[in-house]
Amino acid sequence: MNRAVIAIHGGAGAIARAAMSKEKEQCYVQALAAVVASGQTILSAGGSALDAVTEAVRLLEECPLFNAGKGSVFTHQGTHELDACVMDGHTLDTGAVAGVSHIRNPILAARAVLKHSPHVLLIGEGAERFAVSRGFEPVANNFFSTDERWAQLQRALGNQQILLDHDSGGQHADGAPLDADRKFGTVGAVACDLHGNLAAATSTGGMTNKYVGRVGDSPLPGAGCYANNASVAVSCTGTGEVFIRLLAAYDIAALMTYAGLSLQQASERVVMEKVTALGGSGGVVAVDRAGNIALPFNSEGMYRGYGYVGDDAVVAIYREA
Ligand code: GLY
Repeated sequence: MNRAVIAIHGGAGAIARAAMSKEKEQCYVQALAAVVASGQTILSAGGSALDAVTEAVRLLEECPLFNAGKGSVFTHQGTHELDACVMDGHTLDTGAVAGVSHIRNPILAARAVLKHSPHVLLIGEGAERFAVSRGFEPVANNFFSTDERWAQLQRALGNQQILLDHDSGGQHADGAPLDADRKFGTVGAVACDLHGNLAAATSTGGMTNKYVGRVGDSPLPGAGCYANNASVAVSCTGTGEVFIRLLAAYDIAALMTYAGLSLQQASERVVMEKVTALGGSGGVVAVDRAGNIALPFNSEGMYRGYGYVGDDAVVAIYREA
């Protein structure tokens, strides 16, 4: 019998314990625990995995601690372009938006694409027009802005770097990692519901100082987000270009389906070997139909949490000792 569970991430990268104040650490822990708890509540009431991951990611988008929705990073032009995807493992129905600038919760727009359009992925203005037609209230682009993200862009511009949302991205003059105490991270969730159905959702502001028009792995089914009841639900965080080239989320499913690897083996093979071999950094959260979970990452830390129905939420940031 399956065990209903939700697992979430808030990004992976150079999260140095020494650079994190106790107060800030507490903020992250509380935010992650609250999101896991909301997913557990939905699942314990018999709600679908699809509803649980959508709501978890919506909450993460609303929290400015994470690089999705409010608190998203800036493009090179000082704007915000957001990506999101949601996938139902029962039907393989998928909805995604990319490069949107005026949708407060891209994951809800992705869900609307899944439910109310004949398409899988809408981009830019077309995605925004579709969202408005579905009753979404547009927001100004600076709705997503925060002072910390602006400062992060200024440092990236100064260093002439494009910072992956998970990257330390260089050094301060004092030798500390550039981004160590900053907010960063794609967000995502996977769940297995009481009926054994799987779902995955991923949302991001992308990477600081990215080209206008750049799209990462998060909104691309099979790259940063994938769910199939026959194998696994996966949400990725990390170096988007590498996750796209590997079709990382689908590769985990393929290794389970065609090579017979376990969830743990498949997710570790992709994250620790394949992503690492291409110079990528990041991790995944993944769940199979029996409710087994895997949360591997090859970076210093990954904001993450999970909760089985009936159990306490478990939250972690750093690599276990
Ligand atoms: N992994 C998120 C991005 O690269 O945009």
